[in-house]
Amino acid sequence: MDVRHKPLYHYAPPRNWINDPNGMIHWQGVYHLFYQYVPFSAGNGVKHWGHAVSTDLARWSPRPIALSPTPGGPDKDGVWSGCAIDWDGLPLAFYTGVFPEQQCLAVGDDTLERWTKYDGNPIIAAPPGGLEVTGFRDPCVWREPDGWRLALGSGRKGGLGLVLLYRSDDLLHWEYLHPLYEGESAETGRVFECPNFFALGGQHVLITSPIPLARAIYFAGEYSEGRFAPMRWGEVDAGGALYAPQYMIDALGRRLLIGWLWEERPEVQYMAAGWSGVMSLPRVLSLADDGALCSAVAPEVDALREGVLHQTALALDDETVPLPQAAGDAIELCAHFAVGSASQVGIEVLRSPDGQETTRLVYDVASRRLLCDRTRASLNAETHRDVRGDALALGDDGMLALRIYVDRSVVETYANERIVLTSRAYPERGDSKGVTVFADGGRAELTELTVWRMGSCLR
Ligand code: FRU
Repeated sequence: MDVRHKPLYHYAPPRNWINDPNGMIHWQGVYHLFYQYVPFSAGNGVKHWGHAVSTDLARWSPRPIALSPTPGGPDKDGVWSGCAIDWDGLPLAFYTGVFPEQQCLAVGDDTLERWTKYDGNPIIAAPPGGLEVTGFRDPCVWREPDGWRLALGSGRKGGLGLVLLYRSDDLLHWEYLHPLYEGESAETGRVFECPNFFALGGQHVLITSPIPLARAIYFAGEYSEGRFAPMRWGEVDAGGALYAPQYMIDALGRRLLIGWLWEERPEVQYMAAGWSGVMSLPRVLSLADDGALCSAVAPEVDALREGVLHQTALALDDETVPLPQAAGDAIELCAHFAVGSASQVGIEVLRSPDGQETTRLVYDVASRRLLCDRTRASLNAETHRDVRGDALALGDDGMLALRIYVDRSVVETYANERIVLTSRAYPERGDSKGVTVFADGGRAELTELTVWRMGSCLR
């Protein structure tokens, strides 16, 4: 095991491979997170459902494996992604068994630790007749006044992404209705993996992770008569590392989202490290007036703060100011900038004293974009070293509010409670933990900066 880059306060099991969050549910006051898990290897392989629980959405306890493939069963080659629902007091998990891809059902006990697979599995054995599809997986189930609905991630052979809609009265027998939504442009991908469909802010939102985009996108729009008509779409997280997120509704009625942060380094390297993949922080979703999907970090995450490392306010005049007291590789930074006359403002993290390695969060005034610049993030040339970014308008008086979560190899940045950029960075140098603030091309005001040391999310 090489845990140098292993995050401290983003959940991952102690070792081996994880991918998509699954079956997220707030059950009897406990948040349950299941996830795609390969128990014997840090590489992609036969999928199980790993399990972790939390009472506060900040600290997580790993639990035993919840679902494993059954030899000879429809999930003999893997228990792939799916969801969990509360069926009037009974926890049910819907997932895709492979191969071929078929939909299966399991019933849980109160702890959600012991699951009994339905002996009539699969509950949906094959794609609808006459439809040639490139994927048939990742059930998302919800209730409507006249029965249950199930959406499946799919794609039309030779065509675009597709979400298939089914209906049932008893959760066992499912009738195919028609597409819930069919992609309209190659830009939004060919296979819609991991659909999530839910009401939010007076509209409906479909989140999916399309092949081959390698990122999660959302559509927001109108849902009626079983058909979804989006009015806009965009990225869930523009940092490049988040995929296959899943939502849940908690007791407070919040739509919470957690995604898989994949490795942005080659397989040989994560195999050597002995672990791969980590979960994002939990986010609260909302819809802006213009229909954009907004993410804010769940306030519960504040409980992971262990103490203030540094607090300051600074006037910046075309300069970069190192903040030695703020240094760390498991920290949260909360910064407010009044952008003023500067052309760029931002913060460097995971920076070596000489700047040889640095990950830069930059707001570019001319293009109105927030960027995560990893071109110098690591001396390791095999890791991702690009610039990712998203459009962001400044708040009143040119305000930019950043919350940056640096956690070893994760840099997760929330801006103006609207966008989020999550990227991975793998500095090689042991002293690449520095923080600077900067304003280029003019004056800006850092009206407030607080940096916290963060503690482990494992309980
Ligand atoms: C998305 C995905 C899902 C599938 C699972 C298998 O990352 O490909 O479509 O169910 O991973 O692990």
